[in-house]
Amino acid sequence: MTTVQEQDVIELLLSQHQQIRALFTRVRQSTGDTRRDAFHELTRLLAVHESAEEQVVHPAARDDAGSDVVEARLAEENEAKRALAKLYDLGVDSPDFDARFAEFEAAVLSHALHEEQEEFPQLRTKTDPATLVRMAGAVRAAEAVSPTRPHPNAGENPITNLIAGPPLAIFDKTRDAVRDWRQSQN
Ligand SMILES: [Fe+2]
Ligand SMILES: [Fe+2]
Repeated sequence: MTTVQEQDVIELLLSQHQQIRALFTRVRQSTGDTRRDAFHELTRLLAVHESAEEQVVHPAARDDAGSDVVEARLAEENEAKRALAKLYDLGVDSPDFDARFAEFEAAVLSHALHEEQEEFPQLRTKTDPATLVRMAGAVRAAEAVSPTRPHPNAGENPITNLIAGPPLAIFDKTRDAVRDWRQSQN
C-alpha cells in the first residue's frame, strides 16, 4: 500500500481532483452554514492545489506537454481565481450564486480533465519517480499554511485571519508558501 509520504505529486493531485469534485457537489446540495463551510473548504483546497500546480507542476510539464498546453492551464487557473473571488463577494445565500457557481464548476472540472489528459501522463512518462515524490512536498508546503479548520480560540493568530480572508488572500498566501518551498529545494 502506498503511504501518504510515498505518494508522488501526480497521485496527490489526482486524489485532490476527486476531493474537489466531491466538494462542488456538497456546495450544490447544501444550504446555509453547511454550504458556507463547504464553499470555504473548496476555496482552501483549490488554493492549495492550484498553487502547487502553478509553482511546481506546470513549470516541470512545460517541456513535456508543450508551452501552449501549460499557458492554457495557467490562464484557466487565473480565471478560476477571479471567479472564486466574485462568488465569495456574492455570498452563498445570494440568488445569483447557484447559476454562477454552476459555471465555475464546469470551468474548473474541464480544467482538471485537461490536466489529467494532456499534462499529467506526459509528466509521469518523462520525469523520474523520485523527483515526482519530491515534488509532492509543494502540496504539503501549501497545506501547512492552510489548515482545514480555524481554531476557535486562536484570536489574532495569523492563520485564523488567513483562513477567514477572501479567496485572493488565501491564494497569495499559499502561493508564497509553495514558492518558498521551491526556492529551498535549489
Ligand atoms: Fe490546475
Ligand atoms: Fe489540478
